[in-house]
Amino acid sequence: MLDLILRRANLPDGRASVDIGVAKGQIVAIEPSLAAVGAREIDAAGRLVTPPFVDSHFHLDSALSVGRPRHNESGTLLEGIQIWSELKPSITAEDVYDRALALCHWAIAKGTLAIRSHVDVCDDRLLAVDALLAVRQTMKPYLDLQLVAFPQDGYLRSPTARANLDEALKRGVDVVGGIPHFERTMAAGGEAIAALCRIAAERGLMVDMHCDESDDPLSRHVETLAAETVRHGLHGRVTGSHLTSMHSMDNYYVSKLIALMAEANLNAVANPLINISLQGRHDAYPKRRGMTRVKELLKAGVNVAFGHDCVMDPWYALGSADMLEVAHMALHVGHMTGREEMRACFAAVTTAGARTLGLADYGLEIGKPASFVVLQASDPVEALRLRASRLFVFRAGREIAATPPVATALRLDGVEKKIDFTL
Ligand code: FE2
Repeated sequence: MLDLILRRANLPDGRASVDIGVAKGQIVAIEPSLAAVGAREIDAAGRLVTPPFVDSHFHLDSALSVGRPRHNESGTLLEGIQIWSELKPSITAEDVYDRALALCHWAIAKGTLAIRSHVDVCDDRLLAVDALLAVRQTMKPYLDLQLVAFPQDGYLRSPTARANLDEALKRGVDVVGGIPHFERTMAAGGEAIAALCRIAAERGLMVDMHCDESDDPLSRHVETLAAETVRHGLHGRVTGSHLTSMHSMDNYYVSKLIALMAEANLNAVANPLINISLQGRHDAYPKRRGMTRVKELLKAGVNVAFGHDCVMDPWYALGSADMLEVAHMALHVGHMTGREEMRACFAAVTTAGARTLGLADYGLEIGKPASFVVLQASDPVEALRLRASRLFVFRAGREIAATPPVATALRLDGVEKKIDFTL
């Protein structure tokens, strides 16, 4: 007798109608028509069962603060930074904790069980660091929260960022962050990257930097990040986030750059909802798209994941912590509407995210924790099209969220018909 059997599940890799057996919180069988009996059995009935969604880039400290002290009426990055600086002095650790916890609950409800969140270390009180470390602890049974020490005002530019970043890492923040394009000069940005990669190499940590998040075609920090990754042997443990400048760079230069990124086994993270909203704001028509070259990076074998970046904060007033919405935007912005391309976008919010975060226990495989999501869709493309309901969310064999299936009762000419937007 197994603890749980999911019957007739479709998997993201294309396997159809298989049974998944669970015992003691682990996956113990994946096969068609499993002979065993489960204490609980769920008939997935040809629906997609996926490993949990992964949000590879987020800011929990600012999440759900929209409208405080005012709304961003221009919708620009600069007004967002201004509002955040107005809000920062009045923020308390409790406030950060409560908002971050609420966001984690939303994420779990949407089947996201791993989040990499940056935390601003340029507030000398480091209260957001302490608050998010507490959230990481509270949520540990349900969600893998990875924290990045993020010097929002510049590692070299902000006078106390070096000491604060060091202190944040000592308190238990997991990953070394950075924002080289916000340093005073391109050279200072390179200096910051070198110093931060050295810290990561010395302490055995991963790196995730906001990198080239602008429309400047001459921004060159991801090149330096890749070179420093190779220098320190940090292959696979370094992530360049945003990389929006790559959209505007010279094509010949990019052909060299992408090869360098592949050599360094760099992870790339695009944040489609935010990139399309904030970039290109200085452009007259035609306006550039503000997303990095996802298709080309994938073609070169670079691991590309997507992040939500913001939900209801000074930079982005929308969002519901739904990684399918993120991937849905990405495939539109990136012209990735081919079947395989759409599947790659689904992977960017699941398996590629797990690779970026270095999650060892991730995936639908025998011997792994029984953490998965049952979607109201038959395959990844339908899941993206419908931003399908997460019918069940399981973490290590335990059901931790459930949403009833969507079904509209259409009443026309006195006749009732149920529709769920599938053929
Ligand atoms: Fe960010």
